[in-house]
Amino acid sequence: MTTQSEARATTIPKRAQDLMALLRGRRSVRQYQERPVARALIEQILEAARWSPSPHGRQPWRFVVLSSLENKTILAERMGETWQHNLAMDGQEAVIVNIRLEKSRQRILHAPVIIIPCLFMANMDHYPDKQRQADERIMAIQSLGAAIQNMLLMAYDLGLDAGWMCAPLFCPEIVCEALNLDTQLSPQALLTVGYAAADPKRRERLPLDSLVLYLDEDFA
Ligand SMILES: Cc1cc2nc3c(=O)[nH]c(=O)nc-3n(C[C@H](O)[C@H](O)[C@H](O)COP(=O)(O)O)c2cc1C
Repeated sequence: MTTQSEARATTIPKRAQDLMALLRGRRSVRQYQERPVARALIEQILEAARWSPSPHGRQPWRFVVLSSLENKTILAERMGETWQHNLAMDGQEAVIVNIRLEKSRQRILHAPVIIIPCLFMANMDHYPDKQRQADERIMAIQSLGAAIQNMLLMAYDLGLDAGWMCAPLFCPEIVCEALNLDTQLSPQALLTVGYAAADPKRRERLPLDSLVLYLDEDFA
């Protein structure tokens, strides 16, 4: 016979169901309405990032926020130059390169708000050997990923949407130079934030049993 405490342990609480709905609902949006976003909502998104886990609790992140057409244009132009160079190096046809560049440019210019999550290593541990130094950096990057996910989820919970673009990762120095940022910052990504223009197509997820290896079965 099942006792009351056993029954309770296997019931998924309402708040966990709500959280799962939020996790499943969050989607990558690449086209936005022109509608501007209130600063208070952006602050709420950044506040969510602040509460992310981080190595030694050192919070190795900083967030650059921009919304003016002027700043978006500078960013798009300068990152576009690097991308153009990289795509040409990959041997992509000029026509295709231009189409991809223009698409990326439009995404940046038409996003109401852009958040650039940056790695900030100054307060992390410093090691004499390369391997541990590299591992320390990876830990910091992992936590920045957690901070980004917190922001994406908060944006979605606020009725906004967001999209993750990796472009700054390939030219962090250029992003710093273009936006006059402290060179201790290493831009790792770019988040577009706004109100979705349409529901995007979702990517299928792999089934859980293809992802997980249970080594034993010592569960209730
Ligand atoms: C590290 C990372 C980099 C990404 N870079 C890009 C990108 O440059 N451009 C883009 O359109 N989406 C990018 N994405 C978003 C993924 O394409 C998206 O999360 C994935 O297709 C699943 O779709 P969903 O977010 O709607 O569930 C990136 C996601 C991650 C985690």
